[in-house]
Amino acid sequence: MTFSKTYDKFVLLKKGKIQDREMGKAKMGIVINHSENIFLLQTRSNSYAFGIDDQGLVRHLYWGKRINEVEDFELPVLTEVSTNDPVYEITREEFPVYGSLRYKEHCLKVTFADGVREVVYEYVGYRIENGESCEELILELKDRHYALKMELHYKVYEAYDLMERFIVLHNASGETMEVEQLQSGQFHIPYENLNFSNVHGHWGAEQQRFVQKVSYGKIVIENRRGISSHNHNPYFILDRDATETSGDVYFGALRQSGNFSGVVEQTPYGGTLVQMGLNAHDFCLELKAGEHFASPAILCGYSDCGFETMSHRLHRFANDFILSEGFRPVLYNSWEATEFGVTCEEQKKLAKKAKELGAELFVVDDGWFGERNGIDNGLGDWYVNEKKFPNGIDELIREVKSLGMMFGIWVEPEMVNPPTKLFAEHPDWIYHFDTRTSDTSRGQYVLDLTKAEVKSFLYEMLDNLLSGHEIDYIKWDANRPISQTNLHRDLWYRHIEAVYDIVKALKKKHPHVLFEACASGGGRIDYGILGIFDDFWTSDNTDAYDRLTIQDSYSYIYPIKAMRAWVTDCPNFISARMIPLKFRFHSAMMGSLGIGCNVLKFTEEDTAMAKEMIREYKEIRPIVQEGIFYRLENPSANDYAVYEYQKEEKGLIFAFLAQGKIGHRSTTVRFRGLEADAVYTVLLENGELKKSGAYLMQHGLELRLNGDYASTLIRFAKCETGRA
Ligand code: DGJ
Repeated sequence: MTFSKTYDKFVLLKKGKIQDREMGKAKMGIVINHSENIFLLQTRSNSYAFGIDDQGLVRHLYWGKRINEVEDFELPVLTEVSTNDPVYEITREEFPVYGSLRYKEHCLKVTFADGVREVVYEYVGYRIENGESCEELILELKDRHYALKMELHYKVYEAYDLMERFIVLHNASGETMEVEQLQSGQFHIPYENLNFSNVHGHWGAEQQRFVQKVSYGKIVIENRRGISSHNHNPYFILDRDATETSGDVYFGALRQSGNFSGVVEQTPYGGTLVQMGLNAHDFCLELKAGEHFASPAILCGYSDCGFETMSHRLHRFANDFILSEGFRPVLYNSWEATEFGVTCEEQKKLAKKAKELGAELFVVDDGWFGERNGIDNGLGDWYVNEKKFPNGIDELIREVKSLGMMFGIWVEPEMVNPPTKLFAEHPDWIYHFDTRTSDTSRGQYVLDLTKAEVKSFLYEMLDNLLSGHEIDYIKWDANRPISQTNLHRDLWYRHIEAVYDIVKALKKKHPHVLFEACASGGGRIDYGILGIFDDFWTSDNTDAYDRLTIQDSYSYIYPIKAMRAWVTDCPNFISARMIPLKFRFHSAMMGSLGIGCNVLKFTEEDTAMAKEMIREYKEIRPIVQEGIFYRLENPSANDYAVYEYQKEEKGLIFAFLAQGKIGHRSTTVRFRGLEADAVYTVLLENGELKKSGAYLMQHGLELRLNGDYASTLIRFAKCETGRA
């Protein structure tokens, strides 16, 4: 298999947008009542409404299930009831700014050149633009005194039941303005006592879903580290006691990997507000004369039928618009097998064995460059280590290519270790304050990517790497947060923008290369980096049982195709658990499969099982990576985890039972998303059944797994011939 054929197979498959596949003609997404200045944004099943009142205030009116008539909406005149409750406090605003009698959360705070720090806007007008599968409403506001223009952008993806909101600021004055707070939008949910869910976690334990009641006071989730985080994730989900398949769910995901913040507040006046955007902590953006600045967008929506629909909408949008095309290859990564002890000979052996098992991409991880024998040296010196690769890295690449695999390589470009040549030559390239000592973490400093020369150096280094060698895949790591910054308080945003710019430019020149976003595991999982990068390294925790929790939480918001999951050795280096290879495979087959074992130690039995599992994964890959994903209910007293994937007429179910208890009680697998009247062939490990869609969805199948760490893969397909 040649390099370009391999590439074609994985990257160039054509995407079908939802309109072509399912929706037919798109309907008008933006409806305007001109006499009342009311705007109604219509998606297939939702409506979002706001209006401009007689004072020029942009007032929120509605978000929820579809209401067809724009004439139904009204903008009552605001009257103050008490001086202690100013109208601004009571009124639901689309874009509250800092100033006047406003004390609530605001989206924008600006200090003008003369020191005034109040924004007073007026409505200028609107325009509508047509984008790919969306209509975009742009509401134009300007400050009454200063030449600051503000645009509220709403992209309406009618067929996807989603919207994107963001703000564009334009300094049309001759002087610099300081933007101290910029949130991408405020939302109002007309209910109290909602449930808020997000994830908490830390290294090795990312994506731990939590749900908490919203009451009075505020809930804040944020990241202050610059390098995204394992702790919380830039999205909100607010629900009214929803389940997977019922209930109201409001959600929004911020397209940003740097410092973010989100606030949820049940207001004293009824209802709940939520906003999300750039974290105001240590933030100040200098908007110079003539400059524009666009905030990151929030991808948002509402489901009246539970979390499943929310996930489906986001997954489908990500697959159609955000992710690069094509299926993700089965990769082998050598990190857990060799760590820093990389040698050309051993990598070649690993590659040969990985190929025998069925891997399609071989990735050499950390340790191939500079004087990298541990964490404290090498980063920054991106030349091939001659002791480890006496004939250069191409010897390994040639071997990998001759085996018919793609080749991938690990880098951590944003960092530098103190003993390196790079640091000796450019000690001022790291984030630092002249009068302070910069902290090392994992023995490294962070390069100041807001400096143009550092950004160019990194681009050129990576461009040379990709131009000089046949590389198909970059695993881009980032193993520490930023500290001691520089003097500019916009770095929390500018740093990640520089990363995005570098990768975008590299992809333009090397369009076949896939990029994996890794930050000590899953520290950079967000809709900002997704699409610029192709895969997420979900977690360094590769324990197959722990991964079920991580993967489950991940799936609420993020698409399965981007979820890298490896099978690794036991005892697992984090959990020390021993888990059968079959369970480990099934757990990793739930995403984009990778192998991280020391495959040279595989027994004949392991080899046979790995070959069979990888063969089967390749068969089901289109369904797993681009199908519709369901978190199925487990009605059993035993702790089964059951997931369904479906694409067109075919589907599959993974079921897991980590520990059998309560008399080996079975579970009932109730399928989702089938055609009630169609007949399906269901392939179980011990035989085949034919059942109607209605039976499988309503009655379900009894499934009993025995013993600890038991798992199974059930496949099904619609029978064109019915029961015959
Ligand atoms: C952290 C990553 O998450 C690991 O997969 C591995 O690449 C190491 N860094 C290498 O230093």
